[in-house]
Amino acid sequence: MIVYFSGTGNSRYCAEFLARHLEDQCIDAFHFIRDGIAAEFISGKPWVFVSPTYAWQLPRIFADFIRSGNFDGSDDAYFVMTCGSSIGGAGAYNKALCEEKGLRYRGTMPVVMPENYVAMFAVPQEEEAKRIVHAGQRALKKAARCIAGEEDIPTKAAGIGGKLMSGIVNGLFYPLFVKDKAFRVSDGCISCGKCVEGCIMNNIHLVEGKPVWKGNCTHCMACICDCPTAAIEYGRASVGKPRYHCPEVEE
Ligand SMILES: Cc1cc2nc3c(=O)[nH]c(=O)nc-3n(C[C@H](O)[C@H](O)[C@H](O)COP(=O)(O)O)c2cc1C
Ligand code: SF4
Ligand code: SF4
Repeated sequence: MIVYFSGTGNSRYCAEFLARHLEDQCIDAFHFIRDGIAAEFISGKPWVFVSPTYAWQLPRIFADFIRSGNFDGSDDAYFVMTCGSSIGGAGAYNKALCEEKGLRYRGTMPVVMPENYVAMFAVPQEEEAKRIVHAGQRALKKAARCIAGEEDIPTKAAGIGGKLMSGIVNGLFYPLFVKDKAFRVSDGCISCGKCVEGCIMNNIHLVEGKPVWKGNCTHCMACICDCPTAAIEYGRASVGKPRYHCPEVEE
């Protein structure tokens, strides 16, 4: 069974791609995480956890969702991590998570997808994004072959840089950068409530029709990227940048 989390669609695209290739079921963790419901899943097929990379590891909310859930039936667990460039040494943390859960770790496949971190970096325009997504299909097909053949995903050992990024830098990233104080809304807001509905942390409410962020954000970028009028900015960092959504790309 394929279980995924996605802020801006890249990981959803990959999960659905794998579901088609593996003829398996695909489940979105959004409502489980948002509503604080522990997963109670049973499947005879391997577990395939698909998610973005946040600071060279699984996003903490997704790791906690796996940690607190019951995944019965198959003992095998594969990970597919979408990223803008690198997952660093994330595989070691996924392996440790499997050991905690009594699952057999079968490897982590990095899939380079378009960068979505509009609060921090440049994000691609649509045509460039399509090219990157198309190129990412190769890694997805390789992951699908390993999973279907019940083989481990071949893993390259992380270098010192990767270990540092997934270790010390990940630990600093959350307290230093993952904050919602810089979000603001312009007069372009039409009070549609989409930002409220799409926040996995339930961190936004409308006050007099305008969003207010409540201080419990995981920087998934859904609110800022999904606003239909691009009325949300993140300080000055997002000004003038395109908003990112995974484009539709055929095989
Ligand atoms: C908070 C945050 C942290 C990120 N950290 C990394 C990272 O460490 N390495 C990387 O290559 N990409 C990083 N990215 C980029 C995303 O992992 C990448 O664009 C991913 O495919 C987004 O997936 P989604 O559309 O399913 O949310 C980060 C993005 C965000 C929003
Ligand atoms: S999604 Fe945009 S337009 Fe809709 S309520 Fe939120 S900020 Fe306003
Ligand atoms: S406030 Fe925005 S960026 Fe933060 S978790 Fe919610 S949707 Fe994601």
